[in-house]
Amino acid sequence: MKITVIGAGYVGLVSSACFAELGHEVITVDNDMQTVEQLIGGRTPIHEELLPELLDRHRGRSLTFSSDIAAAFRFCDVAFICVGTPPSPNGDADLSYVDNVARTLAKSLDRHKLIVEKSTVPVGTCEAVRRTMMLNNARAEYFSIASNPEFLREGTAVRDFLFPDRILIGVPDERSREMLIEIYRPILDGSYYERRDAVGGRAPHSPKLIVSDVKSAELIKHASNAFLALKISFINAVSTICEGVGADVRQVAEGIGADSRIGPQFLNPGIGYGGSCFPKDVLAFRSVAQSVGYDFKLLTEVMAINEEQKRRFVGKVREALWTLRGKKVAVLGLAFKGGTDDVRDSPAIDIIYRLKAEGVEICAFDPAAMPRAEALLPSGFITFAPDLYAACDGADAVLVLTEWPEFAAADLSRIRALLRLPILLDGKNLFAPEAVHAAGLAYFCMGAGGHADKPIRNVSLALKADSLRPALPVVRTHDDVRSVA
Ligand code: NAD
Ligand code: UGA
Repeated sequence: MKITVIGAGYVGLVSSACFAELGHEVITVDNDMQTVEQLIGGRTPIHEELLPELLDRHRGRSLTFSSDIAAAFRFCDVAFICVGTPPSPNGDADLSYVDNVARTLAKSLDRHKLIVEKSTVPVGTCEAVRRTMMLNNARAEYFSIASNPEFLREGTAVRDFLFPDRILIGVPDERSREMLIEIYRPILDGSYYERRDAVGGRAPHSPKLIVSDVKSAELIKHASNAFLALKISFINAVSTICEGVGADVRQVAEGIGADSRIGPQFLNPGIGYGGSCFPKDVLAFRSVAQSVGYDFKLLTEVMAINEEQKRRFVGKVREALWTLRGKKVAVLGLAFKGGTDDVRDSPAIDIIYRLKAEGVEICAFDPAAMPRAEALLPSGFITFAPDLYAACDGADAVLVLTEWPEFAAADLSRIRALLRLPILLDGKNLFAPEAVHAAGLAYFCMGAGGHADKPIRNVSLALKADSLRPALPVVRTHDDVRSVA
């Protein structure tokens, strides 16, 4: 199949590489010349596992890049719209990028095409695209519009695309259904997983195909993201209760998630969900509800709990360090989650602003997101370290704000030796408390019964560590942390 992908961002680029991997001929267009030049020049503009390998495999053969949307549209049988749908100031999704594409496509329509909306959009958008195209003189018999929402996660995007739980197609007619099934056939019939060169090697996998009407598909995407965000806010609310009553949210989450009707995923508490998707999609879904006269208060609460988590984490830093002005902290993690360089709506960036407002000096490290964070933050706002240990050197505490596997595997004893005060604040519950205590660090995490986690255990472990490092301050209780500070 001849496919044009419009938008070479996180979704468009991954989709393009994966469509080529499935055997299609793909042109990817973007109106950002720098992105197109990077792609033509052999570079990968975003940090995403397996993407550079897939691009290298297909670039210049079945996958080409262009900034000429009209020419790319004339080439294809099917065009996927993958442009951004950021939030407007009033919470609605800003559909101006989609509208812009629709008007351009209308002018370049020379024979029948299937136009597929892959960006996350409010229900009714495909219908609005159809109207816009008609108003711009597109002939109705020359195009159909389908919805094919994308469920990939940043950081695992290629695997999510090629090994999905489900493929959702919202189709207006039989011809569109057949064309979309043809595109995904190697995944649906399992032939992709038989290939010797398949990503991850041969591995059986059988995703579910869901065929719906167009509006239901659009709604499924918004409702799925809202539900996942709700799950995170739910466990974050439970973690607050755990802290109050002295329970351990990790054990509680394990117990809740063991119920197959609930499931263990998206029950990790922390500093709240971020990224370019959940925050804007929950907001946009609430706007959709408002547009039909329903006040979706549950989503308002989901957002409020999410905001509260960042405030609560800064409160923990204040508790641990007593006063913040003039303190120096190491921040590990700037991306909104591990495995990506994306800092859009990152809770880490929000927390950095809150700490800076209280006079804290920050030295940060992130394995992939430092260039984007540097571009986002005011010049000289924070300093950047070449590695996680350099960030910790001389700091009053280390704050873990992104769930990078590199951080979970860090040498805690080395971190302890570099810190001025032995304090680790874990906003992602990445570490086992025992391991942190064994390294002689006081551990503050989310939802573990009081601020200084298990102080009695801390005393004995810190004392043990003390005999190995007599020159370093040892934290026995929460009060000790304060007095050392
Ligand atoms: P992005 O900002 O990374 O990429 C969008 C790209 O579209 C940019 O490169 C931009 O230059 C380009 N673009 C904008 N207008 C254009 C035009 N007229 N012609 C050609 N190119 C144009 O966005 P993203 O993260 O890839 O998200 C795209 C959509 O997919 C959003 O609706 C998002 O909600 C949805 N989505 C994102 C993810 C994710 O993990 N990022 C997952 C599923 C769905
Ligand atoms: C999310 C969805 O998971 C994808 O299915 C969807 O396609 C995508 O949004 C989208 O529509 O754009 P993504 O935002 O890339 O994907 O990443 P997630 O893994 O969902 O994480 C989102 C945020 O929630 C991150 O900040 C992460 O740290 C946080 N999170 C996630 C938690 O705090 N706890 C958890 O248990 C899981």
